[in-house]
Amino acid sequence: MLQGGQFDNMKDTQAYIERIRRVSRDYQRLELAVDKSLSSMLAGQAVLARRIEKDYEIQHWNPYLRELWFPVEILNSNIIVVEVPAATSYQPGQLLSLLGPIGKPFKFRRKLRNVLLIVYDTPPTSLLMMLPALLANDASVTMVLMGTACQYDTGHLPEEIEILHAEEDLSWQDMVMTLGWADQVFVLVGPSKELSNFADVMRLVRERRNDVPANYIFGVFQRQLPCAVGACYVCMLRSNAGAKLQCVDGPAFDLTTLHLEN
Ligand code: FES
Repeated sequence: MLQGGQFDNMKDTQAYIERIRRVSRDYQRLELAVDKSLSSMLAGQAVLARRIEKDYEIQHWNPYLRELWFPVEILNSNIIVVEVPAATSYQPGQLLSLLGPIGKPFKFRRKLRNVLLIVYDTPPTSLLMMLPALLANDASVTMVLMGTACQYDTGHLPEEIEILHAEEDLSWQDMVMTLGWADQVFVLVGPSKELSNFADVMRLVRERRNDVPANYIFGVFQRQLPCAVGACYVCMLRSNAGAKLQCVDGPAFDLTTLHLEN
């Protein structure tokens, strides 16, 4: 599965936090001055980040020393923006080690008019970087928040995005119409019950749409990645085409092809 040249673009580089901006009660955005190699990242790609600090590993050690960060914005040739919980303390000037870019960019249909984002038990952060390009191309975007995602304050997101909150049974108003109208759907779930949450969403979709075509609904995985180079298989998924790895083949997979049972 590991192929020569596959990781030619991935680099271990240093960055620092240039600016910190609080965007809502619970979230802050960090503007990171990064190596130029990261400024061409596209929506769907991520970095593995860790602080460079004396004794940091000793004081905060865990088996996953790096956190998976999906940028929410690229500002210019060397600034990427990430959104992280406000409860985590960062200071401007903080040095970081970034490993990336990781993963493949999201694939969008050529003629894309309506995009549906379903966010279940997780903040929508990993999907946010696609928004500027979609809006610039006049696509309509609806975001449905489910479960704990309903607690995410969307006040700082572009006002053109339609935001809906699902009921406890995960249904939402005009569901049949929204699903029929969408040219492409991206589903983001929290990493704890990811397969069963994706299965819940697929059940809902199949109940309301006679046919769910290929390349219509994509699940976006955000597991922590111990190696990110296809070596450890912690991020392995089963699909109709055999084993797939989030770090190499993902993070987005056609949900009609994945085996979602645990
Ligand atoms: S993180 Fe090790 S194989 Fe994907």
